[in-house]
Amino acid sequence: MSGGARLWGGRFSGGPAEAFDALNASLAVDRRMWAQDVAGSVAHVEMLGACGILPADDVKAVHRALNQVHEELATGAFAFQPSDEDIHTAVERRVTEIAGDAGARIHTARSRNDQVATDVLLYLRDAIAGQTAGIKRLVEALIAQAEAHVDTLVPGYTHLQRAQPVRLAHHLLAYVWMLSRDRRRLASVREDSLAECPLGSGALSGVGFPVDREMTARALGFARPAPNSLDAVGSRDALADYLHFAATLGVHLSRMGEELVVWSSEEFGFVRLSDAFTSGSSMLPQKKNPDAAELARAKSARLVADYAGLQNVVSKLPLAYNKDLQEDKHYLFDAVDTVDLLLPAVGGMVMTAEFRADRMLAACEAGYLAATDLADHLVKLGWPFRRAHEAVGRLVRSCSERGVGLGEVSAAELAAAGLAGIDPPPVTPEASAENKVAIGGTSRARVLEQLDEARRELDRW
Ligand code: ARG
Repeated sequence: MSGGARLWGGRFSGGPAEAFDALNASLAVDRRMWAQDVAGSVAHVEMLGACGILPADDVKAVHRALNQVHEELATGAFAFQPSDEDIHTAVERRVTEIAGDAGARIHTARSRNDQVATDVLLYLRDAIAGQTAGIKRLVEALIAQAEAHVDTLVPGYTHLQRAQPVRLAHHLLAYVWMLSRDRRRLASVREDSLAECPLGSGALSGVGFPVDREMTARALGFARPAPNSLDAVGSRDALADYLHFAATLGVHLSRMGEELVVWSSEEFGFVRLSDAFTSGSSMLPQKKNPDAAELARAKSARLVADYAGLQNVVSKLPLAYNKDLQEDKHYLFDAVDTVDLLLPAVGGMVMTAEFRADRMLAACEAGYLAATDLADHLVKLGWPFRRAHEAVGRLVRSCSERGVGLGEVSAAELAAAGLAGIDPPPVTPEASAENKVAIGGTSRARVLEQLDEARRELDRW
């Protein structure tokens, strides 16, 4: 048996087995929601007072006790007991110790089911505020680098094969737009998914008192009370929406991490990552390893797993609350912590990265990246694109067999490729990027437009 009286002990003749207690207790996980639990309790008890369900003296005593509990928890003076199953029972136990019978009235018209569903939404709302700021700082870093690299050309890749030159700013801005959608998803969690307050739904069917759910919803910053008690205590959509955001953000940061790993290799040499975001090898003195980028790449697995994990838990449950739902916080907190770790590290890594324009330009010049421009030139002379594509393909094959660039072809080689009499214009990577003049393309004017748009977007955040 495991020590201490339980809040639900009345119906039981013996205490829980230690093994059950160890499995069942969630305090170690949910104690981090203490501030939200106290805030929810304050709103609840104030409402009970306003509705005449609790006498004013009791409300005052409980409120005072809750303030003290808040203080104890904030300073670390709070003494958790072995019987404290979770943060809700711990707070109620202590309030009752302090305020006696008045404290023992705090759970009137409330269940831990609506309590925990409310706490977790409050917690998520607080977490979202910090993460919105974290995304903003990362986007600022990307925009600052993009501003510095409008005229830096880098090969754009498909299949990790050099394809066409792009402005580095354009490449970096691609991530800005991904992150801006992530930011929008996060805002919609805040605005929509977290709009409804579960408090007042009781264990499953509401509570047997005329509580004012509008009042508690308002006091806790929700838009309205949740309209259905079963749904309110048994659903975790808001968490799923957040975890979906986190998983997608994780995928974006992972791709950025992968690119920085590859780009910082000796083979690519496109970027030098700052010492502050890399580490050495315990054995190989020459090594500088892109650990931050690698961890950004790896963490997406965790974030995707957190999303899948929560959905998997909830999907099997009959309405309404089931103890399985206690596991929701495991996934939520893991994702919140992971995103909290990632955003500043990736932001710092991007901010301090040194892109190597010379290496990027050399790669643009070495890889037949002007082939499409040559085909486009033929099309402008009246060739059907497919014929132009074929002829330029033949020319690239003969050049690559001889190990020379498109600028070094002989008249005979041109003729052999079916391009007799064609005078291939010199195509610089810059000119190639400049050719893409439509919206979303790599011409200087379009990229500057994008940068403006990105800065305007940032100002709205
Ligand atoms: N610790 C529980 C959780 O996180 C609180 C709700 C307990 N409810 C119950 N009916 N046993 O889900």
